[in-house]
Amino acid sequence: MNPITREVDLILKNAKELLTLSPSIKEESGLGIIQNGAVAMKEGRVIWVGRTDELTKEISITSWGQEIDATGKVVMPGLIDSHTHLVFAGSRELEFEQRIQGLSYLEIAERGGGILSTVEATRKAPFEELLSLGKKRLDRMLSKGVTTIEAKSGYGLSLQDEIKILKVTKALKESHPIDIVPTFLGAHTVPKEFRNDRKQYVDLIIQEMIPRVAQEGLAEFCDVFCEEKAFSLEESRKILETGKRYGLKPKIHADQLSSGGGAELAAEVGAFSADHLEYVSPIGIERMAERAVTAVLLPGASFFLSMKQFPPAREMIERGVAVALATDLNPGSSMTESLPLMITMGCTMFRMLPREVIQATTIHAAKSMGRESDIGSLEVGKQADIAILDIPNYRYLPYHFGVDHVEMVIKKGKVVYQKPIINEQ
Ligand code: NIG
Ligand code: FE
Repeated sequence: MNPITREVDLILKNAKELLTLSPSIKEESGLGIIQNGAVAMKEGRVIWVGRTDELTKEISITSWGQEIDATGKVVMPGLIDSHTHLVFAGSRELEFEQRIQGLSYLEIAERGGGILSTVEATRKAPFEELLSLGKKRLDRMLSKGVTTIEAKSGYGLSLQDEIKILKVTKALKESHPIDIVPTFLGAHTVPKEFRNDRKQYVDLIIQEMIPRVAQEGLAEFCDVFCEEKAFSLEESRKILETGKRYGLKPKIHADQLSSGGGAELAAEVGAFSADHLEYVSPIGIERMAERAVTAVLLPGASFFLSMKQFPPAREMIERGVAVALATDLNPGSSMTESLPLMITMGCTMFRMLPREVIQATTIHAAKSMGRESDIGSLEVGKQADIAILDIPNYRYLPYHFGVDHVEMVIKKGKVVYQKPIINEQ
């Protein structure tokens, strides 16, 4: 061994395009692309990134190490889904049909459907059932190239049931290769037993739920559905400020169905992200840019609810707001685990460019969870989370849609998914 070479346990080489997302690699796309790229990993971290022809001069592989040939493929950071409602029971395909027949999301909720029907099913579901449903959803995500997600509670809406959901989330995080960032969303809607006394429910969140969730270390973020029909600006502010006092970082469902000052509130409380933003105001955009609040846009919800109003993604990008895209996986407004599908919708519906939707599901998604120093790009020292795609260039990812391009997924330097081989006779 050459004395200056370093030993690693996994090498990936010959990538047609290696999307590093590193700002230090300057080229036309802004994605930090290295042609004929290679990545070397050791103990779950990236320790070398560069051109394959430079690799052997500096790096050698241990006797037990593995080498992966990515000839003709695109290699990129594992995708990050920064807004999901992962743990729930039941399903709402009948509402989907009612919407096709002309009822709106709010009309359905007013008739006893909506979030509350999922709350009922989730309260009834035993821990093990929620665990197995969650695992299936995570497996689907992994097969789409996803290596980290954010997951919200919010279908329990009682102390005991919110804790149950967050404990299922914790068990999933400990047993599945996908990393999960947990968020407490007790303020998803007012449960039916508090219908006539919403103040009492807000007090329950503030006085009992937040302290308990924080004390048990079950969530990193606190989220609120800030909306005319859910929680007011005042209530949202109170909940997010209380969360902050207990060490829960703020996030907010803002301006989804109406313009209510949610983005402005996100900036005021120093939220990591404001999500949805269909009806965000120009001032809201300004404030988000000033306070570096990431916009998490959810095209699956716009698509699934046949919304006419889309979030002004171009305006946000032009004003300097970092835009992320996520699935919003939930049984009511976005029943999908497919982040690649959101990547295409970000282009066709929100007019984001291919390079922008890739940033939106990697480095910007990481930023929306305060994880940008660890994941979201392939740079020395960062976690070795990687997706290998069987496509000739990065523009193909949004372009060739609705099919699976993911061939292999690496999480913390280990191969955790490989596309099944179909035997052709
Ligand atoms: O993010 N906006 C609020 N919550 C979900 C919908 C939840 C449901 O319908 O069950 C969302 O779109
Ligand atoms: Fe949501």
